[in-house]
Amino acid sequence: MTAGTTPEGVPAATATGDDLRAVMRNWAAGVAIATTFHDGRDHAVTVNSFTSVSLDPPLVLVCIGRVSRFGAPVRGSGTWAVSLLPADAADLALRLAKPGGPEGPVLAGIPHRAGVTGAALLDDALATLECRTVAIHPGGDHDIVVGEVLSTSVGPVEDRDVPAAAGPAGDDDPRGPLVSFRGGFRTCSD
Ligand SMILES: Cc1cc2nc3c(=O)[nH]c(=O)nc-3n(C[C@H](O)[C@H](O)[C@H](O)COP(=O)(O)O)c2cc1C
Repeated sequence: MTAGTTPEGVPAATATGDDLRAVMRNWAAGVAIATTFHDGRDHAVTVNSFTSVSLDPPLVLVCIGRVSRFGAPVRGSGTWAVSLLPADAADLALRLAKPGGPEGPVLAGIPHRAGVTGAALLDDALATLECRTVAIHPGGDHDIVVGEVLSTSVGPVEDRDVPAAAGPAGDDDPRGPLVSFRGGFRTCSD
């Protein structure tokens, strides 16, 4: 073993959390709202750590801060939903990222409906899905919450009964995604 090397011969870590943050600022990510229904009320938080994991079975994950206000409710309920935000939803994303959450009911004034798990689905989302938790892995100061997808929807709620144009459902939705990049919200023009 040499200096700066682990017993396995792997270089020892020198990067800090700030170094990782500086890198991840350059990673463009979609923005979503994670929701759950627990103890008789809605809980919601802005996330960009959402990703798909597996198609068979259909699995997704989201990383939730250990001290996040969303952590205890999502662990307690065992079910949760994700609503993918359109480009014009930056104010909503900021509102649900506020430490401690917004004043009053977390989704007051935000059009939504309850999904099959009771978790809120945002009516203006590009797409939504609902999950039941199948694993929670420790991930440093976050929990990696893995969910089996139970149900999905694509497109804004008012278009749900309109036959889709050619192509996968939702591809005729003219709205683009809300994207986080270098500490701000961006949109995609094409
Ligand atoms: C664009 C964006 C993405 C975020 N992604 C996550 C995430 O994936 N996981 C997470 O736990 N918090 C994420 N956050 C932070 C939470 O939205 C929230 O600010 C944080 O939980 C602090 O609020 P709390 O102390 O009330 O929990 C994100 C915030 C922003 C603005």
